[in-house]
Amino acid sequence: MSKPQEAFALIIFGATGNLAQLKLIPALYDLVEANLLPKQMTIIGVGRKKMTDQEFRDYSHRVLHQPNRHHQHPIVEATAAELLGKMRYLAGDIAKPEIYQQLHGLLDQDRACTNRMFYLATYPELYQTVFEHLQSSDLNSQKCGFARVIIEKPIGNDLASAKQLNQLLAKYYVEDQIFRLDHYLGRETLQNILSFRFANNLLEPLINHEQIDHVQVTAAEDFGIGLRGGYYDSVGALKDVGQNHLLQMIALATMEEPRDFSNQAITASRLKLLQELRPDPDKLVFGQYDGYLREQDVRPDSKSDTFFALRTTIANSRFQDVPIYVRAGKLLKRTVTEVTFVFKTKGQNPPNMLVYRVQPNAGIVMRFSSKIPGPTFKLQNEYLQFCYKNSENGLPDPYLRLLVDALSGDQTFFVDAEEVEAQWQFVDPLVAKRRQIHSYQPGSWGPEAADQLIEADGRKWIEPSVSFCAL
Ligand SMILES: NC(=O)c1ccc[n+]([C@@H]2O[C@H](COP(=O)([O-])OP(=O)(O)OC[C@H]3O[C@@H](n4cnc5c(N)ncnc54)[C@H](OP(=O)(O)O)[C@@H]3O)[C@@H](O)[C@H]2O)c1
Repeated sequence: MSKPQEAFALIIFGATGNLAQLKLIPALYDLVEANLLPKQMTIIGVGRKKMTDQEFRDYSHRVLHQPNRHHQHPIVEATAAELLGKMRYLAGDIAKPEIYQQLHGLLDQDRACTNRMFYLATYPELYQTVFEHLQSSDLNSQKCGFARVIIEKPIGNDLASAKQLNQLLAKYYVEDQIFRLDHYLGRETLQNILSFRFANNLLEPLINHEQIDHVQVTAAEDFGIGLRGGYYDSVGALKDVGQNHLLQMIALATMEEPRDFSNQAITASRLKLLQELRPDPDKLVFGQYDGYLREQDVRPDSKSDTFFALRTTIANSRFQDVPIYVRAGKLLKRTVTEVTFVFKTKGQNPPNMLVYRVQPNAGIVMRFSSKIPGPTFKLQNEYLQFCYKNSENGLPDPYLRLLVDALSGDQTFFVDAEEVEAQWQFVDPLVAKRRQIHSYQPGSWGPEAADQLIEADGRKWIEPSVSFCAL
C-alpha cells in the first residue's frame, strides 16, 4: 500500500447511512491512525438529514465510539480529532441539481485543484441521477485532478441489469475510474491465498485434478438477517453472498498463476476462472431457516433462500472433473468461512487437506497423517498451521485496504465489468431454479437435502474445525 500524496476529496453520498456507520467512518479512522490518508484530505459527507459540519463531526465521533467498533484497539482522541477536522457535511437531496453546485463551491473553496473520489454509499436506484448530475455540474471533469467512483454490491440484480449498470457507468467514466467494491477481495486472508499459492512452489504443483479429489467452500453465519429483512428478502443468500464474495473466493483459490502481480494480470486470471465455472442447476439446494417468515420486513409467504448448497466444476484442464461443493447460509451452527482442498487418498488413510480459513481463527492449515507414538502402527490426524493470531501485524480491515487502493488508483482487488457479468452468468441459471425451498432448523448445518447433494457423490461435508488456530 503506497501512501497517496496529493490533495484529495472523498465525497460520501449516504454518509449518514448504515454502510458509512459500520464500515467507512471506522475505516477512515484506521487510515488516519496508520498515517495512510493524504494530509490534504477533505471528507464531505452527503445525506438528507439536516446537519451542520460540527453536527456531522459529533455524529461521526459517536459512530467511532459505538460498542463493538474498533474492539481491537481503543479510539485515541487525538487521532479521532485529526479525522473529524477533515470532515464537512452537505445536507440535501442528491436527486436534485442544487447540491452539486454547493459541492462544487465547497471543493473550490478548499482548493482549486483536487482529486475527487465519489463513494456511492446509497441506493442503486439513485446512481443514474447522481452520475448525470456529477457530469452536468462538471464534477466528473478530470481537467484538474482525477474523478473516481466507488460502488458496492448489489451491482445489478441479474446479468441484464448488471450489463445496464456497466453501460451506464461507461457513459460517464472509463474503467480505470470505476471501483466496484467487494470487501471480500480486501480481506488479508483472501489476498494471502495468492501469495501462499504462487510464492511457494511446494503445494501449487499438487493443486490439480490428478491430486485433488474435491474442493469445499463454506460460508456459514450463526446469526439471522437481523434488521436487513427488506433488502435480504428481495435477494436471498445466493445473490447476497454467492454471486459476489463466494465466487471471488473460489476464483482466488483456483485461478491460474497470473503472468505477474499487476492489476491487469491478476484481474485477467480471476476473470478467466469465473468464466470457466460451470453452474449446474440440477445440483442445487435452497433452504430457509425456521422462523424466517416472522422476521421484520420479510414477506409472510417469502420463498427467499437463507441457505444454498451447490456443486460446480471448472471447465479447464487443471480442474477437469474436480467437483467444488459450496454452501452458505444464515443461522447455521457456527460462523465460519473457509475453502478446503481435499486430496485424493491411498487406501483407507484419511485424505490430506489444505484449508484456507478466512474467519474466525484465520489461517492456513494442512492436515496430514502421523504415526501414533507407541508400539503399533496406527495413524492419527495432525495439523500444520499458519495462524494470523501469531502475526504481529494483525489483520487490517478490508475497507482500510480498499480505500487506500482506490485513493492510489490500484484496481487489483476491485471487480471489473466483465467479472461482474461472469458472476451473474453463473448465478442466473441457478436463481431460475429457485422453486423448492427446504426448511432447516436454526443451529443446524442447513437442510438434509444439502447433505444428500454431496452424499450422492460418496462424499460428506467437512465439519469446520473449532480447533484450527484456536491458540
Ligand atoms: N450496510 C452495509 O453493510 C452494506 C454492505 C454492502 C453494501 N451496501 C450497499 O450500500 C448502499 C447503502 O446501504 P446502507 O445500508 O448504508 O443504506 P442506508 O442505511 O439506508 O443509507 C442510505 C444513505 O443514503 C442517503 N440517501 C438516500 N436517499 C437520498 C437522497 N435522495 N439524497 C441524499 N441522500 C440520500 C441516506 O441519507 P439520509 O439518511 O440522511 O436520508 C443515507 O445516508 C446500498 O447500495 C447497499 O446495498 C451496504
